[in-house]
Amino acid sequence: MRDYKIAPSILSADFSRLGDDVRSVLKAGADIVHFDVMDNHYVPNLTIGPLVCSALRSYGIEETIDVHLMIKPVDRIIPDFAKAGANYITFHPEASDHVDRTINLIRENGCMPGLVLNPATSITHLENCIENLDMILLMSVNPGFGGQKFIESTYKKIEQVRELIDSTGKKIRLEVDGGINIENIDKIAKAGADTFVAGSAIFNSDDYSETIQSMRKKLKSS
Ligand code: DX5
Ligand code: ZN
Repeated sequence: MRDYKIAPSILSADFSRLGDDVRSVLKAGADIVHFDVMDNHYVPNLTIGPLVCSALRSYGIEETIDVHLMIKPVDRIIPDFAKAGANYITFHPEASDHVDRTINLIRENGCMPGLVLNPATSITHLENCIENLDMILLMSVNPGFGGQKFIESTYKKIEQVRELIDSTGKKIRLEVDGGINIENIDKIAKAGADTFVAGSAIFNSDDYSETIQSMRKKLKSS
């Protein structure tokens, strides 16, 4: 079995009591905090920035924070997120004029870089940079909102990227984001993913722990 990680997207958390809600979901068994940053420019929605990431750290959240940048441009804000306590920083190739430079910038700032591919973005973007990545994030919805339906063509893409990762022999996480729930998580794992972002499926459930346990059970049987 792969080293599976469940990463609740805090986009669906209760922002009026974010620290508490993040703590609860981690206590309930989540592994990684998925932190969605949107700018009302690259995507049609506006969320949170480094101040909030830093506030979560000050509040005592010590687990891995996976910052998903849906913003354009990206470079200016990367050092701020590193200072704010981010671990992974992922960005979309369409949002950077110099993808290799951005990857290096993330690494130079002490974080682990990841590239995010939208549903219609080709995996050829990985060809010249895969060896320098710690994470590849495949979007299974168009970025901007929580609660959307998983796009079925993602399965094939996960299989293709799994092959690419294995051919490098490197430890690169394969994360999938959007529309993941108890029903489809095993199929997504079978295709080759190891890190699962789930926002609404976890935060809109009555019992986080029960939902995460059910997801793990499905992962075990996949
Ligand atoms: C979408 C975000 C996702 C989103 C996932 O642009 O990147 O992380 O919050 O939400 P669900 O799991 O509800 O599809
Ligand atoms: Zn995300």
